[in-house]
Amino acid sequence: MKADYIVYNIGTLLNPIASKGPLKGKKMNHVETYHDAFVAFNGHKIIDFGTHDFSSLIKEDTVTYDALGKLATPGLIDSHTHVVHAGSREYEFEQKMQGVPYLDILKAGGGILSTVASTREATPEALYKQAQKSLIKMMLNGVTTVEGKSGYGLDHETELKQLQVQKQLNADLPINIVSTYMGAHALPKEYKNDKQTYLDIVIKLFPRIKEENLAAFVDIFCEDGAFDVYDSKKILTAAIKQGFKVKIHADEIHALGGVPLAVSLKAVSADHLMAIDEAGLNALANGDTIATLLPNTSFYLNSEYAPARKILDYNIALALASDYNPGSSPSENFLFTLNLAAIHLKLSPNEILNAATLNAAYAIDQGLHKGRIEKNRSADLVLYDAPNWPYVLYHYATNHVSDVFIQGKHIVKDSKYREEI
Ligand code: NIG
Ligand code: FE
Repeated sequence: MKADYIVYNIGTLLNPIASKGPLKGKKMNHVETYHDAFVAFNGHKIIDFGTHDFSSLIKEDTVTYDALGKLATPGLIDSHTHVVHAGSREYEFEQKMQGVPYLDILKAGGGILSTVASTREATPEALYKQAQKSLIKMMLNGVTTVEGKSGYGLDHETELKQLQVQKQLNADLPINIVSTYMGAHALPKEYKNDKQTYLDIVIKLFPRIKEENLAAFVDIFCEDGAFDVYDSKKILTAAIKQGFKVKIHADEIHALGGVPLAVSLKAVSADHLMAIDEAGLNALANGDTIATLLPNTSFYLNSEYAPARKILDYNIALALASDYNPGSSPSENFLFTLNLAAIHLKLSPNEILNAATLNAAYAIDQGLHKGRIEKNRSADLVLYDAPNWPYVLYHYATNHVSDVFIQGKHIVKDSKYREEI
């Protein structure tokens, strides 16, 4: 097969090693390195890559793009965000700085519930515009696939509105968006004293979401002040019955048993894990659920970081994500997430690369299609204006991305988003 597009003269191409599943424990510390490499695309797929002669791939109209010796990685994957929402929460920022805990703000009707109020009020057009801006910033930061959750509606109408807007954004923008229904993000005020009725309401929306193909996953916030492990079991079991894959927000502040539950239900990922205990670690070590760490949240809430090194010592597969949301992680700069992973999670550059590409792909059930430069996988590639990968992690809070290819299309060129593509 001939190529439509060849990116050549890549100074260093880094790639996760080939593996049957996600990379676990010590295996995360290895990557393949190619010097003076190329990657060839046909349509939205990779058809060849490496350091060999590629002249036989060229046809009359093949476009060749000189990477000028830059650094390249597979497209970055942000496997946990709350990108579609209205408004912002800078007015709570001051309270937070004065030391009011995250869960106290929520208890007083703020936090998630204040974003719920603005999201309920917002028109679909306003939601679309706000999320579109964020998604463009993400692409400029090298993100080629992103997961996004509902959960700022907490009623059928608004949850559907969020998911429908997200579906439209996925159709309109080059970035790939994987959707998650998170009706159980918080208990809405209307059901403050009637949690069971609210859980039934969450479940009642499953068939409609399936019918309209609005989400691949169902997620729940398993935490004091949100939902406990019994609620989580109820929601996630019903979701699996309905044909959804499941995820969980667990052990963010307290270890309530959400992680062992997630593993027993074969959840694709368990996310946060700052407060993970031995039971959670043992469960993950004996299962296939990915541990997704969100260091932005620790940074922004000024709290503990997840014990990443310990998680790897248990031979668990780890992914990194931004948790982009208006409360605990208001930043679309995914490279900053990776900076934090180096500084605070003490992950090595190779571990970080694997956690933000192949393992992140597995964390959204795309491990066979994305996250690695390989024939037949999605043609998602990032070029960096940086001498090497450790430099990207060291020279922090800076966007080093110069070019982004998503499904074979040149979406970011010379650090600029190409609207016309
Ligand atoms: O993943 N922890 C629960 N949900 C989000 C925060 C959402 C918010 O504060 O608006 C999270 O951190
Ligand atoms: Fe989250």
